[in-house]
Amino acid sequence: MEGTRHKLIDLLFQNQDSYISGQELSDQLNISRSAIWKHMNELKKAGYEIEAVTNRGYRIVNLPTVLSEDAIRWGLETDWLGHHLHYYPSVTSTQNIAHDLARDKASHGTVVMAGEQTKGKGRMKRYWDSKQNAGLWFSTVLRPKSLEPKNATQITLVAAVALAKVMSNYSIPVRIKWPNDLFIGERKLSGILTEMQAEQDQIDYIILGIGINVNHDKNDFDQSIVNQATSLKIYAEEQINLNDLFKSVAKEFELQYERFIEQGFKPIKSEWESYAYKMGEWLKVRAQGEWNAKLVGIHEDGALKVIDENGQEHLLYSAEILW
Ligand code: BTN
Repeated sequence: MEGTRHKLIDLLFQNQDSYISGQELSDQLNISRSAIWKHMNELKKAGYEIEAVTNRGYRIVNLPTVLSEDAIRWGLETDWLGHHLHYYPSVTSTQNIAHDLARDKASHGTVVMAGEQTKGKGRMKRYWDSKQNAGLWFSTVLRPKSLEPKNATQITLVAAVALAKVMSNYSIPVRIKWPNDLFIGERKLSGILTEMQAEQDQIDYIILGIGINVNHDKNDFDQSIVNQATSLKIYAEEQINLNDLFKSVAKEFELQYERFIEQGFKPIKSEWESYAYKMGEWLKVRAQGEWNAKLVGIHEDGALKVIDENGQEHLLYSAEILW
């Protein structure tokens, strides 16, 4: 049933600029015309808008706005990212499932996406609020062959740049707060969590988890973050299509990732700095105590570069910015 439905959607996708007749679908899928008709009704219930014209056949006019494997696959313009995609309506955390798949030899670019997460994970063991069908919650398995484990955290910054570029294309004025939070004004829109499995000098795999608050209204957020979080819908005052947004993010991340692997961190560094939040400003950092620091950029290896009140430069690899 599922397999037939995938094939049916594929055939409709292949013929999206014309029509495909019921007879042809029935021949290709080896099922009756009435079975085709039933499938069409199922697709309509799932949110597909399908046009049926007498003597011509069927055509997909619009995709569902809620996430699904098929709706994501249609029009995904990547070479490898998301070609293996696992969608679950509800999971504890997509990170856990991606780790299991990676241990089971899942290929580079495999994506695990969820409608909701009941135990979403943030950095520093924090909880990540992942309300059902309100955001993009997904984890990607990456196997960067040539990257040294010590440089793995740079992938987080690559992802942050890719997200910032996508948001700019949507006219959303985002800034990146080191190392990887995306902010609109003073509120957090998106977070990135990178987890790595490595031998001493070789990365086995990286799980890149991305969470983006998309269609939340203000009261959709957990009470604990309601005054610190925002969503694309709150800013843009309109509903955003999750399938389309994922496709844009996947395409841009693949592009930036390839650039990073081919050209190294340098081009990413300058782009990251162009999006940096509070660049050149004084802020408070927590790194072996709390102290005032001026943000001056990031180092070639991705560390945060600050100067203290005595004018001395510091590279921070693990720190929290308190602002
Ligand atoms: C942070 O800002 O602290 C990082 C948040 C990362 C959230 C994403 S949502 C998809 C993936 N699954 C998780 O459990 N966490 C990441």
